[in-house]
Amino acid sequence: MIMMSTWACLIIFALIIPLLFVFTPPRHPREIPSVPFWVTLLPVLFDVDQQQIFEQYIATRLYRHGAIKLFFAGQWNIIVERPEFISEVLKREQIYNKSGNQKKIPHSVLADFLGDHVLAAGSNIISARGEEWRCYRTIIKPGLQKVIDTKRIIDNTRKLRETFRQMQGKSIQKGIPIQEILQRYSSANLLCCIFDCPELGSQMMSMEHDVLLHTTQLTLKRYLFRPIFMNFPVLDRLASVIPSRAKARRLIRQFSELLQAEVIPSSGKKLQNGENANCLGDRLRSAWRDGTLNTKQLRDNLNVLYVAGQENPQLLMVSSLYLLGKHSEIQEYLREKIKDLSISNLDDLDWRSLPYLTATILECLRLLPPISQLVNRHVAEPACLGGRMHIPRGTYIGYNSYATNRDPVAWGPDANDFRPERWGSTDEQISRKYRSAKARAEFISFHGGSRACLGEKFALLQMRISLFVLARAFRWELDPEWKDQMTPAGPLHPRGVRLVFKKL
Ligand code: HEM
Repeated sequence: MIMMSTWACLIIFALIIPLLFVFTPPRHPREIPSVPFWVTLLPVLFDVDQQQIFEQYIATRLYRHGAIKLFFAGQWNIIVERPEFISEVLKREQIYNKSGNQKKIPHSVLADFLGDHVLAAGSNIISARGEEWRCYRTIIKPGLQKVIDTKRIIDNTRKLRETFRQMQGKSIQKGIPIQEILQRYSSANLLCCIFDCPELGSQMMSMEHDVLLHTTQLTLKRYLFRPIFMNFPVLDRLASVIPSRAKARRLIRQFSELLQAEVIPSSGKKLQNGENANCLGDRLRSAWRDGTLNTKQLRDNLNVLYVAGQENPQLLMVSSLYLLGKHSEIQEYLREKIKDLSISNLDDLDWRSLPYLTATILECLRLLPPISQLVNRHVAEPACLGGRMHIPRGTYIGYNSYATNRDPVAWGPDANDFRPERWGSTDEQISRKYRSAKARAEFISFHGGSRACLGEKFALLQMRISLFVLARAFRWELDPEWKDQMTPAGPLHPRGVRLVFKKL
């Protein structure tokens, strides 16, 4: 009996000591508080969303100290909120090394999905650094920053309007779920404009058409962002005993193969027609053919470009329609500003010359940034952030753009309010405000510094066109039966939002 209890004690001891080690916040940096470990468990155990958790357990500490220690993705990290701290992190890349999932959580399903898997040499434009990153950027940047053919986006947007019209016609008074439709729409824009695959793009916009790439991605997302695995990616190592994780890995392989086959065909029409120097797929393929990229690097970059290029604009559209549905007075004002424009041909419109439309989009991006939290910097040597915060080597550091974009010092006491006017009333004022807020890292939705988003212009163009067309066609509101809540983990956005569209 005594022997048994000694063994039991030893086992408990052996289990508890490492757990205590993992769950106890690190002592350094001493200057900032930590969010208790159990807060991480809340979305796993209860029906709470990320916004509630932020407001209740994180906001006060974060705004008071400018940074906190937070348990996330299986480890303690520093989350920085104060803009000047973020500026410093972005500028001093030699100390705060860009470090993607392949280094941070190498065996996770997420690393696998975003094309960072450690088992073979590779990485992607978002997670690489130094020479490798410069090489990817030379290949990819011209494919993303070319002049976009607006006709293709306008065409997809008209189809989107028709889809909403038809779906609403079938379920009068009931809200329609918008996320899947917008996923098709942003995929179609990316395929048509960036990858030069108009046929696949057109299939995406036809709701009767089951596009395997789309359905695989949808199913995959259901498996990917489960709170327990986001917080404890170590569980992803147990794919052999957790069937859902094994399934997630299978779906990732399937998605990746499909994407490559669709976007980078190794034979067929596109090759016969010769390669297009501005088509991203062609650029990646020729870099692979001449040996600049190996097969793994081709796959990794393609995956991340498709996901970043499609998912982020989709999330922004979902959140913007949600915010405008919730704030009908702003939606109405926006409509007033654009409804009387006599436009014979939408292609001729200078999309930048609609100040209130631009201000509304920036305000949506500020309040609900698609990438609300990003932890991907590894501290390469002992550092002193802001001249006072001593950070040990090996720490992971990141930022919470949801918090910084609402910083009361930068944005004033009404930082949480949806107020497009804060950006200014003319194009010039808005551009100036936008540039200065980005330069000071007060607006961090598109990251910043040398690693700022390369798809920003394309994303904003899609947003301008879609909001313009939809606001002239409908008045929409939140479905009163939909529970107004955000996602519990992963990208922060209204969860399964449903809208009621009324034809004008
Ligand atoms: C509203 C839409 C978008 C938002 C909010 C957004 C946000 C971001 C953020 C936060 C980063 C930094 C990521 C990191 O460091 O881990 C980033 C990087 C990047 N984004 Fe976007 N993005 C959007 C749309 C797009 C689109 C449409 C594309 C491509 C078609 C794109 C391509 C990229 C690339 C290539 C990078 C890496 C830049 C580098 O490190 O050199 N993004 N984006």
